[in-house]
Amino acid sequence: MYQKKPGAFMADWWDADGRRHRKQFATSAAAKEHEHRETALAHAERASREMKLAARTSSVKRPRAKAENGTIEPAKGKLGIMIPGMGAVATTFVAGVEAIRKGLAKPIGSLTQMGTIRLGKRTEGRSPKVKEFVPLAGLDDLVFTGWDIFEDNMYEAATNAGVLDYRLLEQLKPFLSSITPRAAVFDHNYVKKIDGPNVKKGKTKMALAEQVRDDIRDFKKTSGATRLVTMWCGSTESYIEPTAAHQSIKSFEKALRENDEMIAPSMIYAYASLMEGVPFANGAPNLTVDLPVMLELSRKNEAPICGKDFKTGQTLIKSVLAPAFKARLLGLSGWYSTNILGNRDGEVLDDPGSFKTKEESKLGLLEHILQPGLYPELYGNMYHKVRINYYPPRGDNKEGWDNIDIFGWLGYPMQIKVDFLCRDSILAAPIVLDLVLFLDLAKRSSELRGLGVQEWLSFYFKSPMTAPGLYPEHDLFIQSMKLKNTLRHLKGEELITHLGLEYYD
Ligand SMILES: NC(=O)c1ccc[n+]([C@@H]2O[C@H](COP(=O)([O-])OP(=O)(O)OC[C@H]3O[C@@H](n4cnc5c(N)ncnc54)[C@H](O)[C@@H]3O)[C@@H](O)[C@H]2O)c1
Repeated sequence: MYQKKPGAFMADWWDADGRRHRKQFATSAAAKEHEHRETALAHAERASREMKLAARTSSVKRPRAKAENGTIEPAKGKLGIMIPGMGAVATTFVAGVEAIRKGLAKPIGSLTQMGTIRLGKRTEGRSPKVKEFVPLAGLDDLVFTGWDIFEDNMYEAATNAGVLDYRLLEQLKPFLSSITPRAAVFDHNYVKKIDGPNVKKGKTKMALAEQVRDDIRDFKKTSGATRLVTMWCGSTESYIEPTAAHQSIKSFEKALRENDEMIAPSMIYAYASLMEGVPFANGAPNLTVDLPVMLELSRKNEAPICGKDFKTGQTLIKSVLAPAFKARLLGLSGWYSTNILGNRDGEVLDDPGSFKTKEESKLGLLEHILQPGLYPELYGNMYHKVRINYYPPRGDNKEGWDNIDIFGWLGYPMQIKVDFLCRDSILAAPIVLDLVLFLDLAKRSSELRGLGVQEWLSFYFKSPMTAPGLYPEHDLFIQSMKLKNTLRHLKGEELITHLGLEYYD
């Protein structure tokens, strides 16, 4: 609930399908009551859907993955990574992979490269590396291409982004200079703060999609890749809501032919990739693949999808602290988050349309983690605000402040202040690496490739996509358990519940 202006109080809640609603009331009490009632109803509805889903899945005995041995195809040959948006995140990722391949640096922050996975009981001492447990593409097998509205090659773009030290970039120069951007599908109405010359021309959006499909086929042929993955690292597009055009393949294709303005450029890349059977991950908060048409295409063409919006700095910390408050039943009266950043992403987010897309993505998390409908005395009244301020001197080195007002036993108030001096793209690059390797694994897995949304990759996102009707899981540690249990399941290992009674028999 929040006050819009004197005498106008807004009830603000999420329904069972994850849609946000607001309704105006004359008094705060009426708004609060309405919000609590609607939130409780949404929770009840979701709980009942989950129980039905659980009943359905438990009555159909799923064969253990072990019985399906051999259903993860080996990671043979090269994996081609295609990146719409060759800016700070993309160049930090590609330069990082090359630096690691040359032995110049370590893949810090990457679960696929440095993480381990415990198997069996705590007493068994089995904890292989993730990359040895499941068959992932090796870093030496990765090849890259991308699209951007600017003509800079990856060396120039990385230099402009100013994330990596020039001494490191000089050592990678021949490799990075060899990756030049393909012409982009771009619409200034969706990203107001930038414009560039390297843009495709076409009579209709369908013609543009065909050109992206040609690019994909061309890259596959010229790079010799056996498999491909597309990873959106482009700017945040203006906020839009799904319309009739996004509801099915048929309506979407009609809209492409008719140049429907509700089709954003990122959707054109997604459509082209999924039509080519290529998995697609969305690192920005735009809708892109979070649409019925993309789910339908993904399942039909067995091209896994996931998104949206990398969980890197402030939201990562939020998804760690908020579950701690809830686990200990500590109340929350307010959470004020503000950021300063000066990179191109910050400049794009200075536009109200792009900021709204980001704001929606950042705001949803607390309500989902804290469940005010279930705990009205603790979280029914919380005030949550997120601000992003473009401040050029900082470049990519963002500073995120959080002021958190909590309350404990007998309602006594306390405060927590977080000041995170982070590096946006340094936090995002290992996420990109893990996502492309895991999406490629999903594509090679007979169990995962036809599912559409890969919810087990929620771990990496601010606004995790889920199957229709399911609320997203935001708690980082539940997400981590979900990811690792998915890997154990794929390999026919026992899932780990952390019950642990067997140690005391
Ligand atoms: N770095 C982080 O921590 C982080 C976290 C979450 C989400 N993100 C998102 O990741 C995306 C990339 O971030 P960044 O810091 O690299 O931004 P950036 O501005 O440095 O790079 C984005 C690039 O996309 C290009 N672009 C825009 N529209 C395009 C289009 N239609 N086709 C092809 N290229 C296009 C721009 O020219 C630019 O080079 C942003 O949407 C950002 O919000 C970043």
